[in-house]
Amino acid sequence: MLSYQPIRSLATLNMAIYQGVAAAERIFKIIDEKIQIKDEEKFPELKVKNADIKFQDVSFQYKTGKDSAVKKINLNIEGEKITALVGHSGAGKSTIMNLIPRFYQQQSGNILIDSQDITKVSLHSLRSKISLVSQDIILFDDNVENNIKYAKSDATQDEIKNACKLAAADEFIETLPEKYKTNIGENGIRLSGGQKQRLSIARAIIKNAPIILLDEATSSLDAESEEKVQNAIFNLTKNKTTLVIAHRLSTIKKANNIIVMKDGNIVGSGKHDQLLKTSKDYESLYSKQVI
Ligand SMILES: Nc1ncnc2c1ncn2[C@@H]1O[C@H](COP(=O)(O)OP(=O)(O)OP(=O)(O)O)[C@@H](O)[C@H]1O
Ligand SMILES: [Mg+2]
Repeated sequence: MLSYQPIRSLATLNMAIYQGVAAAERIFKIIDEKIQIKDEEKFPELKVKNADIKFQDVSFQYKTGKDSAVKKINLNIEGEKITALVGHSGAGKSTIMNLIPRFYQQQSGNILIDSQDITKVSLHSLRSKISLVSQDIILFDDNVENNIKYAKSDATQDEIKNACKLAAADEFIETLPEKYKTNIGENGIRLSGGQKQRLSIARAIIKNAPIILLDEATSSLDAESEEKVQNAIFNLTKNKTTLVIAHRLSTIKKANNIIVMKDGNIVGSGKHDQLLKTSKDYESLYSKQVI
């Protein structure tokens, strides 16, 4: 009878060890992964003036992809203006966006920011000039303030409040039980979709980077939140080079240039009214309400 309890604990211990081993295997697999995009210390910092972005004959194929996701793309993203990318699912919009902060390395062609090849400048300086607002927002199981500070660790209370005001997030934060000190739960589970979006916009505003990459969320919001998010985006993108993957007509109408993508190619560009007349692909996207 006395040996029963120790044997039971041994069995539990065994289970804990195996769980640990399985977890360690997964972690080491990530740690041992070879770094493909290296930051070379000798590279100079990226110097930004207007933040014009240029793609020259850029092609990219994912390792596991059958075909190139982006095919010999030539593209000028004008500095301090809004450029919108539109196209069906799988057209290559996110791929183009992911190449700019060098999340992936193109197989051929060059990407230049203010005439500097992005592979010849330090990775840290490149990414410090870019704010990314993606479809799936990553928030931490921490309070509102710390979630925003993630973009600028030395931000003052005033800076945070100001960014939240511009992002139209201040008003809902003030109604939370502990305001800026309220824990928002894992991945912001205690917030609505529109609130999460506005928090991520506040984060981008506080970073104050000259280049904004915005993957507009597809999930629909009610009219009121929609307007607030649109205002927040307007404040964020003012005088910044903005590349937006647009799903909403309101965004598209604000864009200075719209790029239409299909199967990894650019099949049209221009303004909304002009494209409706000249591009069959754009007209079809519009009539099927993809945008
Ligand atoms: N990580 C990946 N590995 C392999 N293939 C991928 C990967 N990501 C995307 N692709 C493929 O590359 C092509 C372009 O994908 P991309 O994500 O750029 O499309 P998208 O225009 O952003 O589409 P959506 O509107 O659905 O977001 C697609 O054919 C897709 O299947
Ligand atoms: Mg995408």
